[in-house]
Amino acid sequence: MTGFEEVPQRIISDYSKLEFDYVPDTLVHRDAQMKQLTSIFSPVVDANRSQKVFLTGGVGSGKSALSKRFCLDFRDWGRGKGKNIEFVIVNCRSRNTPSGVLLKILDRFQPNFPDRGFSTTEMLEILRKQITRDNVFLVIVLDEVDVLIKKSGSDLLYSLSRFDDEKVSEHRHSLSLILISQRQIHDFLDAATISTIKRSNQIRFDRYSKDELGDIVGQRVDLAFFPGTVEDDIVGFIAGIAAEFGDARFAIELLENSGRIANEEGAEQVMPEHVRTAKAMTYSVVTESKIEPLEKHMKLTLLAVSRIIRKKTNVSTGEAEEAYALVCEEFGEEPRAHTRFWEYLNYLGDVGLLGLSASGKGRVGKTTLITLPDIPAGILEEKVLSLLK
Ligand SMILES: Nc1ncnc2c1ncn2[C@@H]1O[C@H](COP(=O)(O)OP(=O)(O)O)[C@@H](O)[C@H]1O
Ligand SMILES: [Mg+2]
Repeated sequence: MTGFEEVPQRIISDYSKLEFDYVPDTLVHRDAQMKQLTSIFSPVVDANRSQKVFLTGGVGSGKSALSKRFCLDFRDWGRGKGKNIEFVIVNCRSRNTPSGVLLKILDRFQPNFPDRGFSTTEMLEILRKQITRDNVFLVIVLDEVDVLIKKSGSDLLYSLSRFDDEKVSEHRHSLSLILISQRQIHDFLDAATISTIKRSNQIRFDRYSKDELGDIVGQRVDLAFFPGTVEDDIVGFIAGIAAEFGDARFAIELLENSGRIANEEGAEQVMPEHVRTAKAMTYSVVTESKIEPLEKHMKLTLLAVSRIIRKKTNVSTGEAEEAYALVCEEFGEEPRAHTRFWEYLNYLGDVGLLGLSASGKGRVGKTTLITLPDIPAGILEEKVLSLLK
C-alpha cells in the first residue's frame, strides 16, 4: 500500500477539455474571423490559388486555437471535394531557425527525417517533391512568427512566399501560409514583405469583452464540469476577473483552478471564495508566462514601472521613462531612444501587463497614464527581477 489515495472527482468531469491544446468544435464569438479565413481560403481549392494570411492579437485572443480549428475543418472540407489538403502547425518560439521549421514541416511527410545534413535550399526542394508526389495543398501555420524573424531574419518566410513562383505544375499553387503574431505586422516585418500580404488578408483578434469571456467559460463548464457544479453567477465572476486581460486562456485556467480547489475542499459547487483563491494562483503563473518571452529592454521597462508605481495608483510616461533610464544604468545597458520606449509601453499595454490611459488635457498637453492591472507591484518587480537574472 502507498499513502496515495485517489481524490474522488465531483466537480470536474473531464480535465482534457480544459487543456491548452484542446480545440472546441466552435470558437465562441470568433465567427467573423472564421468566416474571413474561410473566404480567403476557398480559392485554394476552387481555383488552385495559394494564400497568405496574417493573424494578430494579444495573448489568449484565440489565434492559435482558431487557426487549428480552421485547418482541421478545411482539411475535412477539402477531402469531401477530393482535394488532398494537409497542414502543419509550427510554433516558432520553440523552432526559431529555418532548418528547425523546415524539419518540422518535412517530418509531416517523411517521419524521422534526418535532422542534419541538408541545407535549407535542399530541404525546400525535398518539400516540393513531396508536395508534387502526394498532390498536396499544404497549409503551413507559423505561430509566433515574430520570434523566428527576430532570431533568424525573414529569409525563410521569403522562400516560402515565393514557393509557388516555381509552380509544381502550370496551373496549381500548392503552399499557403498562415502567419500568427501578438505583435503588429509593422513591428517586425519589412515593408517589402508586408506588401505581399493583402490588407484584406490581415485578420485582427481583439481582446474579449466580459460577456464574451462569460460565453467562453460557459462553453467549458458544459464540456468539462459535472452538471450543477458551476452556476451562472460564478461564470460571470470569473469572466469579470479575466476581462481585465481580455484573455481566454486566463479565464479557462481560472475556471479550472477554481474547480480543483472546490474539489479539494469537498464542496458540491464552485463558490466565490474558491474563485478568489484560484485568482491569486492563476495571476502568478500567467504573469510569469507573459513576462518570460519579453525582450530585455521590455523587461527593464516593466521593472522600472513596477518600482515607481508601488505607492501610487498611476504614473506618467515621463516618470516611467526617467525610472527606465535609472534601471538601465543599474543593469549596465544603454537606454533605448524615446520612440522605442513608447513602443515598449504600448506593447506591454497590448499584452495586458500594463494599463495605459489618456489623462485628458494636462498642464503640458495630453499625457498618458500607466496603471497596473491588479498585479501587486511588489510581486511584479520580484518576477521581472528573477527573470532578468
Ligand atoms: N473563442 C473561443 N472559444 C472557446 N475557446 C477559446 C476561444 N478563444 C480562445 N479559447 C481558448 O483559450 C485558450 C487560449 O487561446 P489561444 O488560441 O491559445 O490564444 P492565443 O494563441 O491568441 O494566445 C485556448 O485554450 C483556447 O482553446
Ligand atoms: Mg497562441
